[in-house]
Amino acid sequence: MFSVATAASAAYIVAALLFILALAGLSKHETSKAGNSFGIAGMTVALVATIALAAHGGLSPVALSLLIGATVIGAAIGLWRAKVVEMTGMPELIALLHSFVGLAAVLVGWNGYLHVEACPCGSEARALDAQGLLGIHSAEVFIGVFIGAVTFTGSIVANLKLSGRMKSNPLMLPGKNFLNIGALVAFLALTVWFVQEPTLWLLILVTVLALALGWHLVASIGGGDMPVVVSMLNSYSGWAAAASGFLLSNDLLIITGALVGSSGAYLSYIMCKAMNRSFISVIAGGFGIEAGPAEDKDYGEHREITAEGVAELLAGADSVIITPGYGMAVAQAQYGVAELTRKLRDRGVKVRFGIHPVAGRLPGHMNVLLAEAKVPYDIVLEMDEINDDFGDTSVVLVIGANDTVNPAAAEDPSSPIAGMPVLTVWDADNVIVFKRSMASGYAGVQNPLFFRQNSAMLFGDAKDRVEDILHAL
Ligand code: TAP
Repeated sequence: MFSVATAASAAYIVAALLFILALAGLSKHETSKAGNSFGIAGMTVALVATIALAAHGGLSPVALSLLIGATVIGAAIGLWRAKVVEMTGMPELIALLHSFVGLAAVLVGWNGYLHVEACPCGSEARALDAQGLLGIHSAEVFIGVFIGAVTFTGSIVANLKLSGRMKSNPLMLPGKNFLNIGALVAFLALTVWFVQEPTLWLLILVTVLALALGWHLVASIGGGDMPVVVSMLNSYSGWAAAASGFLLSNDLLIITGALVGSSGAYLSYIMCKAMNRSFISVIAGGFGIEAGPAEDKDYGEHREITAEGVAELLAGADSVIITPGYGMAVAQAQYGVAELTRKLRDRGVKVRFGIHPVAGRLPGHMNVLLAEAKVPYDIVLEMDEINDDFGDTSVVLVIGANDTVNPAAAEDPSSPIAGMPVLTVWDADNVIVFKRSMASGYAGVQNPLFFRQNSAMLFGDAKDRVEDILHAL
């Protein structure tokens, strides 16, 4: 027998499968467009099923029109933001979106409490108590509110730091690790108490505690670790959504939350490895390592080259590797770079790209730009796939990259980025560095690569310089 509830359950399973296919698709650039489409389809199915279920469950016409109105307004704002956001502004937008998930989890938790534990009629609470489930409900409320509130304020601080509206230096309160650990211990103790005695003041206390903890956790982390923080907040927002799913008895929210939570945690782990950061210290918060100011060490003189000189080198090269970085995104040089790649390949030069896992300002930043400019996927290689090949390469074009090609990471144990795996571009015969000045990169560390015998600087905006080379070729 057909019922709306059965149809909604079936739709939830379809949506969950679509979300899994979306994640699988997004893990490779060849399939990422399809992955995105799966995600959109999954979310559409989930929204329609949820609204139908709510309408069938006796929602008043006013409440239903509010729900549909909010969905339409939210979708319109989302579409508009996605259209206007610059690639460089993506991390801060993502951080802001995570804060909404956190806030939603707090509101769902409070709503659950007001409807059950605090409801004057007490019928729902008695019914749950009779099944021995009241304690579980209270724990779900408490944990959901805690994770949601940490995610909410943590994401707001991440957004403020990434958008430059708050200083990116780590906040160094005395005993900051003790404060974080103390807050976690207090949360555990309060949870046990709340399960025994679900009183309003305990819920208010945990909300305030978690809001303060989220703020402090992220404020204590230095700018260099922000990418990891954003992906960690992504993970927290997933767990917050899963906690809301338990409260609302919504299986799809539990599955989706768990997918986001675990994939975000795994991504943070990969990024920590790529940046040589301790995963545990970053998730525990406040252990960010801020790079010191550029030191005065004398590295000698750097050499400069003209676009014509680079064109000459490229014309005589057998193999070329291009290692793009944040500066390529700023200059929007990817189209010129794609054109240069085509020209060189037409002349029989072997051209490949070496992509560092944290090049740019968000995971996959360079891959997206290169795909946008129609650079073939098969010549875009990960750092581990290409690092051994620099020794056999005639020319490396470092286009707006800095920290990700810094030999100090591999050679100087005292460097703030020591141990971070980097692209070993200096092994090539010639290294051309495209940038506007001798300024340091994101980590604020001087780059000895610029002063090597086989390196030359091509100063100016990367897009203009690439076009000059195209003309000269
Ligand atoms: P960076 O080390 O940030 O260096 C980028 C370089 O591009 C700068 O030295 C800058 O030098 C140059 N540049 C800027 N605008 C330019 C333009 N219009 N034309 C030419 N050059 C330009 O870049 P990277 O090697 O990609 O390293 C990424 C850094 O960001 C890492 O430290 C990473 O940890 C961090 N980070 C990564 C992420 C993720 S997940 N990818 C997120 C946040 C932070 P000039 O000013 O002299 O031009």
